Amino acid sequence: MPAQDRILEELAAAGGWISFARYMQLALHEPGIGYYASGARKFGPQGDFVTAPELGSLFGRTFARQLRGFERVIEIGAGSGALADVLTRELECEYWVLETSAELRARQRERLGNRVRHIERLPERLQGAVLANEVVDAMPVHVVHWTGRGIMERGVDAELRWSERPATGELLAAAERIAVPAPYVSEIALLARAWMRTLAQSLERGAIFVIDYGFPAREYYHAQRSSGTLMCHYRHRAHADPFARPGEEDITAHVDFSALAEAARTGGAAVLGFTSQAQFLVNCGITEVLGEANAANALHYAPIAAEAQKLLSPAEMGELFKVLAVGTPDCAALTGFKDGDRSASL
Ligand SMILES: C[S@@+](CC[C@H](N)C(=O)[O-])C[C@H]1O[C@@H](n2cnc3c(N)ncnc32)[C@H](O)[C@@H]1O
Repeated sequence: MPAQDRILEELAAAGGWISFARYMQLALHEPGIGYYASGARKFGPQGDFVTAPELGSLFGRTFARQLRGFERVIEIGAGSGALADVLTRELECEYWVLETSAELRARQRERLGNRVRHIERLPERLQGAVLANEVVDAMPVHVVHWTGRGIMERGVDAELRWSERPATGELLAAAERIAVPAPYVSEIALLARAWMRTLAQSLERGAIFVIDYGFPAREYYHAQRSSGTLMCHYRHRAHADPFARPGEEDITAHVDFSALAEAARTGGAAVLGFTSQAQFLVNCGITEVLGEANAANALHYAPIAAEAQKLLSPAEMGELFKVLAVGTPDCAALTGFKDGDRSASL
C-alpha cells in the first residue's frame, strides 16, 4: 500500500487529525511504506542527499582517530553502511549496528557481511562509543505555533494539510519554556529527547556522538527563524512542503543540541564536548589524514581535496554540522574537542 493511502487510513480512523510527529513517523519509518523503510535510492549522487560518509573515506578515517581505545562501536542508523565500511577497516573493535529500516539492514548486511553485528534494540546496559550521523534530523518532530492567542500544535488533517489544535501535555510544557516572539512556528523534538535520555540512562561507560545539522537553542529559536527548520529533500532539491510526496522523499528538521544535551543530563550523562564538524575533524587530525594522500598526483589528490573542502568549509558542512558528545566522565578529554569546545553555548 502506498504511504499516502496508509496515512489517509490512519487519519480516518483517528477522526481526521494526527500530530505532525505521527505523520513524519509514517511517512519516513513505517515498515514497508516509509521513505527509509522502502526501496527508494536515498543516498549518493543518484539519490536524494549525500551525507559525510557518502562523500568518501576521509570522514570515517578521521573519526576513527577519535574512536581508538573504545572496545565497541555502536552505530545507530547506518544508512548505506558507508561509515561502518571505513570504521570496521580502521578499528579493531566490535561493531554493532542498530537500524530501524529492514531494507537498509539488508543492504548493510550485503555490504558489510560479518564485519558488523545487527542488534534489534539497545541493550539495557551499554559500554562503548555510540555514533549517530544524520539520524536525529530524521526523527519525528512535533510542530508548534506560538500565536497571540496561545500555543497551538500543528498537525495534519484528512486532506493532508496543516491543521492546528491547542497544544497540551508534555508538548505544551516544552513550548512554554521557549521564549519566541509570536507569531512563530518551529519544531520540538520530544522523541529525540526521549531517545537521548534512554540512551544516556543505559550507558554504563562510554560516549555518545551525535553528528548532525543544527544549533544550540538560542540560535535554533532565534527571532528571525520564525518559520522553523522543517525541510524536504527530493533528488538533491530542498523544499518546504512535507505533504508533497509522503513516503517518497526525506523530511528533516535541524537538531536543537541544547535539548539533546539536557536530555542526556537527565539520563545521567555528562556533556563531553560540542563543536562544529570542521573543528572536530581538525582536532582529530584531518590534516594528517590528508597528508597520507599522494599530493603530487593531481588525479588522485583532487577528489580528496574536494571532499575535505566539503567537510570543512563553513559554506558547506563545516559550520552548520555540529558534533555533540555526551557520556561518562572517564571519557572526558576527547581529542575531537581539544580546541574550540562550545559546550558553554548549549
Ligand atoms: C539520513 S540517514 C543517515 C545514514 C548514515 N548515518 C549516513 O550518515 O549516511 C538516517 C538513517 O537513520 C536510520 N534511523 C532513523 N531513525 C532511527 C532510529 N530511531 N533508530 C535507528 N535508526 C534510525 C534510517 O533508517 C537511516 O538509516
